[in-house]
Amino acid sequence: MDDYHSPQTIIVANWKMYKTQRGAIEFFDNLLPLIKKKENPVVVCPPATLLPIVSSKYADRGLFFGAQNIHWVTEGAYTGEISAEQATDAGAHFVICGHSERRHYFEESNEMVSHKVAAALNQGLRPILCIGETLEEREAGDALEVLRQDLFASLATIEPTTNIVIAYEPVWAIGTGKVASPADAEDAIGFIRIQLRELWGKLADEVSILYGGSVKPENIVELMACPNINGALVGGASLKAESFAAIVNYNK
Ligand code: PGA
Repeated sequence: MDDYHSPQTIIVANWKMYKTQRGAIEFFDNLLPLIKKKENPVVVCPPATLLPIVSSKYADRGLFFGAQNIHWVTEGAYTGEISAEQATDAGAHFVICGHSERRHYFEESNEMVSHKVAAALNQGLRPILCIGETLEEREAGDALEVLRQDLFASLATIEPTTNIVIAYEPVWAIGTGKVASPADAEDAIGFIRIQLRELWGKLADEVSILYGGSVKPENIVELMACPNINGALVGGASLKAESFAAIVNYNK
């Protein structure tokens, strides 16, 4: 494999519906002196209202920005939605697609998520596709089947590309303080990679697959030591500059 590129390590902050302008600026002003120069992308996904402000102020400081959601249609009468083009215009390079909170509270289906992934790629945005099982699915022994179905349905119409990022986020570990053990996370992500290989062939070995769910400074080193884990999607611990910096600097 002469032209093989190992997957990029990517650390992503998902701020969800937290922070206003003042808190965001305070965060970055505290964060920047704490993080070492990064060869790998550090991506912050703030609420859409903050994207233009933080991207114009901090994009030249080695950070990337992402939207938390987009609509798949390019424009139209969709009150409250934003398009891939609008997210790009606001300074996004990435977009989270199909986060479990969107699947759960806003009833996003795999079909909708697949349209979002396609819209992002068409616009040159890098989609961060989230998949993960619920506690009931895990306890019923269906976790791997759910991952396979979500992956296949979300990527059904997508051409193989390393511009996509996949995030394995077990729903029971999000915001609960319960982190999947590194061995469980590694198993699930290894399984996702095998499924992706079935779909996309060898390119699957170059796609970044992240772990998300209660990632904190205390567990990042162990998680990142797993060979299939290429980064983290961080919610709660990304809201404070000190804890997010400790995660970004995990290998220093
Ligand atoms: P958490 O959230 O780190 O607070 O568990 C992760 C996520 O929802 O992406």
